[in-house]
Amino acid sequence: MEVPEEIGNKLLGWYEAHARDLPWRVPPGADRRADPYAVWLSEIMLQQTTVATVGPYFAAFIKRWPDVAALAAARDEEVLAAWAGLGYYARARNLLKCARLVAAAGGVFPDTEAGLLALPGIGPYTAAAIAAIAFGLPATVVDGNIERVMARLFDERSPLPKVRPKLKAHAAMLVPVHRAGDHAQALMDLGATICTPKSPRCERCPLQTHCAGFAAGVAAELPKRQPKKPRPARLGIVYFAMREDGHVLLETRPPQGLLGGMLGLVGSEWHEDSAAFEPPFAGDWRQAMAPIHHVFTHFNLELTVFAAKSGNESPARGLFVPPPAPDALPSIMRKAYLAGLALLS
Ligand code: ADE
Repeated sequence: MEVPEEIGNKLLGWYEAHARDLPWRVPPGADRRADPYAVWLSEIMLQQTTVATVGPYFAAFIKRWPDVAALAAARDEEVLAAWAGLGYYARARNLLKCARLVAAAGGVFPDTEAGLLALPGIGPYTAAAIAAIAFGLPATVVDGNIERVMARLFDERSPLPKVRPKLKAHAAMLVPVHRAGDHAQALMDLGATICTPKSPRCERCPLQTHCAGFAAGVAAELPKRQPKKPRPARLGIVYFAMREDGHVLLETRPPQGLLGGMLGLVGSEWHEDSAAFEPPFAGDWRQAMAPIHHVFTHFNLELTVFAAKSGNESPARGLFVPPPAPDALPSIMRKAYLAGLALLS
């Protein structure tokens, strides 16, 4: 038996016994394919978010919008509110764009990697994952977990990101003609449960005898990474206001940009130098003792929170609305909202 085939077969054998039971999956070896809509939705949700976090969101979306036509017909605000807490809100906007394009094309997802790649929000990883998992195509799926498995299996010691194309070439060589979806998910599960970033469980690994990193005693140290530049800091100000009738001052953020289209407190732009921004009305503004911190991909945000009770002023920005459900706000705004509320109580 060729070595790649042997590795593939051992991996599938392991997956049949140890596959994680995830709500968007069909069990290994099932004679039906996964629903492309469910695969697409789960893969978009799983971009940059953990399996544990995604579970309940996925279940709620599938229940409320059971197919792509239903999602395409939803109002933007409903979908963004249901997405709140998953982060990276551009994903939710692209999700809707994509759903509407697919619905307009008869509700059928393209069944080629290139066709999938042309849709909004679908990059090379996601296109390959949907092609393999939903359509059984022999696409090369490489996420962070799979990169780690490849770096170890082939003892690649050059650092990421430079070594990435090589890791992809190794992964491509292992893709089987049949059961490419199970193969990709087996690698994901191996990476998540055995070939973990720290303290890999090599003693339980089905690929141990093939693993060059294990043989050299360096598996746990791979992949190497080019040291990261520290994230720059950005500063901002937000204003929390509550009227006597309990209504709170909120605004919908502009559609473009971070947290685009989401609900939020009224506030400044976020810049690297100190933030300045006039309150939305003249009032008795109090400053929260501690600012709110949030980590975005490219910067750390520090938000200073001010809060005031409001009479009948008309604010320069935002609207007084009944208090939103906490999960209708993105995490950073939820933190700021709670800090504002605490200041007034
Ligand atoms: N991460 C991204 N896609 C996944 C999948 N299909 N199964 C498990 N983890 C994943």
